[in-house]
Amino acid sequence: MATASEIAAVGVIGAGQMGSGIAQLAAGGGCAVLLLDADPTALSRAVVSISASLRRLAAKGQLSQAACEDSIKRIRCVSAVQDLRDADLVIEAVVENEDVKKKLFVELDKVTKPSAILASNTSSISVTRLASATKRPSQVIGMHFFNPPPVMKLIEVIRGADTSDEVFAAVRSFSERLGKSVICSQDYPGFIVNRILMPMINEAFWALYTGVATKEDIDAGMKLGTNHPMGPLQLADFIGLDVCLSVLRVLHSGLGDNKYSPCPLLVQYVDAGRLGKKRGVGVYSYG
Ligand code: CAA
Repeated sequence: MATASEIAAVGVIGAGQMGSGIAQLAAGGGCAVLLLDADPTALSRAVVSISASLRRLAAKGQLSQAACEDSIKRIRCVSAVQDLRDADLVIEAVVENEDVKKKLFVELDKVTKPSAILASNTSSISVTRLASATKRPSQVIGMHFFNPPPVMKLIEVIRGADTSDEVFAAVRSFSERLGKSVICSQDYPGFIVNRILMPMINEAFWALYTGVATKEDIDAGMKLGTNHPMGPLQLADFIGLDVCLSVLRVLHSGLGDNKYSPCPLLVQYVDAGRLGKKRGVGVYSYG
């Protein structure tokens, strides 16, 4: 099993917002990155956005021009899971769907080298259940990044029931090598951050639904009154209302308490396709 200093090649699966950000971080940390997505358009978009983000950092003097160009060169786009056979660590950031993730873990278990660590960026799905799809559950772990990954300082590391101490130590040191702080969560629904964040977002929807206040006042209340960088409704749009709803459903079914029951307004927005900033409309409209 690779130790943190031996993690030289990192596979990142999913070239969306989270996958791109994770690929950028790993390349910036000196790793050879294999960015995998079946959709070539998503891959080209990711490369453009990663390059722009790194060049912005270079323009601000936070990164040398040479380090910026080297990081960009370290990212190779690939389209098949087999291309990850030499990765020391694979981090998947595909859609938040247990069946999709499990199928991927079965495939990864077959094609990656026996020493490879398999990580999921899941925001709420059980790491223990994903690990059980493989023959190496001790080498499966959760690495939960926060959006936008290059900016947010945290990685929440989730230990599945069988994750070994060695794998946890390697992933913790690797995360620190990327400049992040690590918190460790046991594998229970919503882990630490979403267990606390999502009920707050849900409560903001209830406040809006029951006419307590306008969306603007709810958000201003939490921004100015409690120093959050974004109000909870704006943050929900930023995360994606579908993602918020899916995490709340995991909390509700996994913890069996009605306090996690999603607000009908959130459900209705998702049913209507108002998924947040990525769709141009959520609680707010984006021009
Ligand atoms: N990629 C790279 N850098 C970015 C970026 C991105 N996508 N977005 C913003 N930045 C950088 C900017 O370049 C800027 O850098 P400098 O200060 O060096 O110039 C800095 O971040 C601040 O950006 P802005 O001035 O444009 O805007 P802002 O001050 O409003 O900050 C924000 C933007 C960082 C997103 C801030 O609003 C914020 O922290 N919001 C809350 C984000 C949050 O809570 N994320 C977690 C969501 S939960 C989650 O992800 C997990 C889950 O499972 C649901």
